[in-house]
Amino acid sequence: MLNKVKTSFFYLMNAVQAGKLYSEDHPKYNEFIQRLYALLDEILRSRKELVIGIVDSELAWEDHIFFELSHKLRGLIIFFEESKIQRIVFQQGLRNDELSSFIAFLTRTKRQDQIDEKEYFSLHGIQNIRAGRIKRMIETEGAGDRSLEMAKQYDISLDAVSNSLNTVLNEEEIDYLDLRFNILNVMENFVGRHQELLNLVSVKQKDLITFVHLLNVSLLSMYFASILGFSKDDVLDIGIAALYHDIGKLSISQKILQKKSKLADSEFARMKDHTLLGTKILYHYKKSLGTLPIVVAFEHHLRYDLQGYPKVAYPQKPHIASLIVSMCDVYDALAQRRTYKKDFPPNEIYELMIKESGKLFDPQLLERFFQAIGVWPVGTLINLSDKSVAVVREVNEGDIFNPIVDVLSPKKKKGRLDLTKNKELNVTSALNPLGKGKKYLDMI
Ligand SMILES: [Fe+2]
Ligand SMILES: [Fe+2]
Repeated sequence: MLNKVKTSFFYLMNAVQAGKLYSEDHPKYNEFIQRLYALLDEILRSRKELVIGIVDSELAWEDHIFFELSHKLRGLIIFFEESKIQRIVFQQGLRNDELSSFIAFLTRTKRQDQIDEKEYFSLHGIQNIRAGRIKRMIETEGAGDRSLEMAKQYDISLDAVSNSLNTVLNEEEIDYLDLRFNILNVMENFVGRHQELLNLVSVKQKDLITFVHLLNVSLLSMYFASILGFSKDDVLDIGIAALYHDIGKLSISQKILQKKSKLADSEFARMKDHTLLGTKILYHYKKSLGTLPIVVAFEHHLRYDLQGYPKVAYPQKPHIASLIVSMCDVYDALAQRRTYKKDFPPNEIYELMIKESGKLFDPQLLERFFQAIGVWPVGTLINLSDKSVAVVREVNEGDIFNPIVDVLSPKKKKGRLDLTKNKELNVTSALNPLGKGKKYLDMI
């Protein structure tokens, strides 16, 4: 019985993932529901009900607490906690269709706490499942808690994507559903908040730098792709391709990657090889990951004018996904705070990238990019010309130099300002959140 219950947690996790990723009539969704149903049905033949849940952030069944399993299924626990579910009771007589409606309820309904659960359950004929809620805590979250929560979530995502990257590096089989679910979480939690993350997360561990870069490029690419109007499925595909774009680099020695001095010619040649190396590695995963990651790994340094690398006999315009990823790649490389190089303030990144219009970057795409993220991205701490300090809240698409901001200091000037409507005021510079800006972070 114990093993069956353990397996049921795995199947439940898969069903939840499928519920988030596919529509209710999708064969994949039904496949995972059917598998979970078959197992629960078997368990319920010898007992009246099955009660599973979480106790102190660990998975539990009766008086068993599954520590090891909880480690493997962190995603399920986080999902339970976010849905404020403490336990689920499956009763004898359970039907496949009510299980399907129940998982759909958990995964599709945006704010479940605003919906009358009883009403939903009776409407959808759910009679043999009950969900016990955690008594809702009074919401007293301050700004500090929120950024702490965001940093925690970022760590969890970083951990999850690092695993997916290591799986490929170790030539192990990849769990595609799990990967896609993790990328979806990244998208839901952080898309459009790239700059806020830069305020929060400064990477001190050298071995994590490339992972952080890959995660950030992935979420920046998803944001940009969604602004360009790609469907959710395409956005996720681009996010996954972006995550693997530098996989070749990870298999090149760390020594070269982190060298502070100029690379020797032979080292530089080897560095450039990361596109081909990545292509080769990802080719082995064509079945599970598809072809887009292969294309992007191969093309992301080709450039718009086709003057990059690797050298190809008959160059053609790179795939739109490659163009998106390479733009976000450069942006993140310039913005990222690393131990061995200077990080550029946003306006300097803008200057540097605009100079490459028509060369490194597709001019139209570059223009759309900065319309979306602005010269001063959302979350940037800035100095205004009247010496007040503010944080960017919204980008004005029509005037990317003048965003909508919240003034943080001095106290008497606090409040929201649209800089397009205050012609006498403008942004003079950005405050580095790791330096002078540090004391304002709590006020954001
Ligand atoms: Fe690269
Ligand atoms: Fe890169």
